[in-house]
Amino acid sequence: MRIGLITTSDDTRHGGIKDLKAEIERQGHTASFFHIDKAGIRIKRKELGIFMIDGKKTRKVDLDAALLRNIGVIKDYEQFVHRIWVVMTLELEGSRVMNRVENWVPASDKFATLVTLAKAGLPVPETVSSEDFFIGYEAAKEFRSSVIKPLRSGLGLGVFKLDDPDAAMHIFNAFTSLNKPIYVQKFLEKKNNGDYRVVVVGDEVIGAEFRKGVTWKTNISQGGIPSKAKITDELADLAIRATKTMNLDFAGVDIAETKNGYFIFETNPSMAWTGFKEVTGVNPAEHIVRHLIKEAKG
Ligand SMILES: Nc1ncnc2c1ncn2[C@@H]1O[C@H](COP(=O)(O)OP(=O)(O)O)[C@@H](O)[C@H]1O
Ligand SMILES: [Mg+2]
Repeated sequence: MRIGLITTSDDTRHGGIKDLKAEIERQGHTASFFHIDKAGIRIKRKELGIFMIDGKKTRKVDLDAALLRNIGVIKDYEQFVHRIWVVMTLELEGSRVMNRVENWVPASDKFATLVTLAKAGLPVPETVSSEDFFIGYEAAKEFRSSVIKPLRSGLGLGVFKLDDPDAAMHIFNAFTSLNKPIYVQKFLEKKNNGDYRVVVVGDEVIGAEFRKGVTWKTNISQGGIPSKAKITDELADLAIRATKTMNLDFAGVDIAETKNGYFIFETNPSMAWTGFKEVTGVNPAEHIVRHLIKEAKG
């Protein structure tokens, strides 16, 4: 099978992509990069032509399946929809994309994820999202200690804590001047200052790690220290339900334990796994590639 790895031409951060490429080849298939910012779609009658420029050469792209890792740092709405529809075209032309782009988009968006999980009855932190700075200010005042997040980000980047609603007022005012929505979440005291990352592939939990924070942020890239965690029934049930609710083929689900029970922060549809692989001895790439091939043959 010909399997694509969807990312941007300047992507250097995603460690997981190396594991995926190696695993595709180990399982006897061909791997190639599909650089979404170097792709072209030709529309002419019913057959859509997909091609990509590689150095100075343009080549036709024909993939049986693809793994969606990264669509890049988006600066413009048209750029966003263009990249999404490039992947959608791959799907329309018969490639099984994992995670499917229509599910990858909401799962990569913290606001869309929380709305969806909350509606399905899953526990999520109290959150207010708005473009109005006064609404943001009122939420920061109510929560007292709040966490502000970009809607689309990862690795703990741009996630910060605010304890002063008047400082929040100034920051939110600046956000609205930049046309940035405000996403304010109640700060939760996490048991042992850590949280769980549970990895689900298909219907199964393949492993779980506990990430203990050096600061209140527990991301490995923020200095968090991983250790292997026991997959309790409760953790597995939450992670699988969250993954299914978001219609994902696989996900890294972040779950914190507090004195009021468990809370889900996010369902990451293209997670990193450096720490996870080390402490659990499980390589998510192996499971993801196997699942993709099964689905693509389906
Ligand atoms: N509401 C919160 N209360 C306490 N800690 C939080 C909260 N939200 C996020 N964190 C911490 O910050 C980390 C990063 O937040 P997260 O929402 O997972 O964003 P990212 O996509 O950057 O990983 C989480 O793993 C968690 O440790
Ligand atoms: Mg996270």
